[in-house]
Amino acid sequence: MKLNILFRRAVEIGIEADPRGRKRIEKMLRKQQEKWKKLDVKEQEKELFDEERTWNPFPDSRIIAGTGEEEVRSLFVGIDVETQEVLLADRLREKGMRIDALMIHHPEGRALADLEKIMPLQVDMLAAYGVPVNHSEAHLRPRMDRVWRAIHSDNLFRTERAAELLGFPAFNTHTITDNLVYRFMEEHICKKEYDTLDEIVSAINDIPEYKVFAKKGNPTTIVHGTGGARPGRIAATEFTGGTNGPEELLKEQSLAGIGTILTMHATEKTLDAAKEHHVNMVQCSHMASDTIGMNLLLDKLMKMDKRLTTIDASGFIRVKRR
Ligand SMILES: [Fe+2]
Ligand SMILES: [Fe+2]
Repeated sequence: MKLNILFRRAVEIGIEADPRGRKRIEKMLRKQQEKWKKLDVKEQEKELFDEERTWNPFPDSRIIAGTGEEEVRSLFVGIDVETQEVLLADRLREKGMRIDALMIHHPEGRALADLEKIMPLQVDMLAAYGVPVNHSEAHLRPRMDRVWRAIHSDNLFRTERAAELLGFPAFNTHTITDNLVYRFMEEHICKKEYDTLDEIVSAINDIPEYKVFAKKGNPTTIVHGTGGARPGRIAATEFTGGTNGPEELLKEQSLAGIGTILTMHATEKTLDAAKEHHVNMVQCSHMASDTIGMNLLLDKLMKMDKRLTTIDASGFIRVKRR
C-alpha cells in the first residue's frame, strides 16, 4: 500500500474516534479550505499556509519524511523515534531486515511544532463530562501559549532529517491513536462498575499491553486515593488532546462530578489539585497506553492490507485484536 493511502486511512480512523465529533471536524476543515481558496497566490500568507490543514484535523500527526508515494509493507514502529532509533532502523536494514517506513507515536518535526494546535480537542472531550466549554477554553488558552513557547525554541527537525538522509519515509500518528486509546479506556474501563480503586487497577492490568508493562515493573498505580476507596464517576480524560491540560481543569472536572481520573502522566501540580479537590487518580503505564492506541490503528490498517508487518521498537509492543 502507498504511504499516502495508509496515512489518509489513519486520519479517517482518528476522526471516527475523535471527541470533537465528525460534524465539528468537517466544519473546521471547510473553514480552512475556504481560507486557502481566498489567499492570493502572490501573498506570503499563501506560501506559509499549511495545506494539510484543509483535510487533516490532526496538526500533530503527519508524514514528516518522504513523498507519500512509497510502497510500504514493513513498518518500524516506535513510541519515540529520534535519531538513535533512525540509526537502529538503518542498522537493522543493513543486517537484511525489510523496513519501508518509520511509524512514530510522539510527534516530531512539524507535527511537534504544531502540537499545541490540537489541544482545543480537550474542550470537546471535557464538555462530554459536563464541563462548560467557556470554562475549559479559558483555562486552556494560557497553557497552549506556554506549550507553544516551550516547543518553539527546540531543534524540531532532527528526526525527519535523519530519516531523509538514511532514506526512510516517516510519519507520526499522535492524536490519531490517542483518540483510539481514549475510546478504548472509556468503553472497557470507565463504563463498568467497580466498588474500589483496586478493582479498577486489576481490570486495567488484565489488558494485555498493561500486563506486559506491569510484568516489567511499570504497572498501573494509584497516585492519589486508596485502594479501598470508592471510584465515583470514572473518566479517561488524560489520554488524548496533545499534552496535559492545566491543573485548573482538574477542579472543573471535580465540579462536573468526576470522582476518578485515569491518566498516563499526572503532573505534580495536577496531583496537588487532585488532592485538594478529592479526585482519585490512577496512573496507567504511559508506554502501554500509547502502545494500545498504535495497536488499535494497526489492527484497522491491517484489515486494508493483510501484508502489513511491524517491527516493535522504542516502547512499542505489537498486540493483535480481532
Ligand atoms: Fe499518546
Ligand atoms: Fe504519550
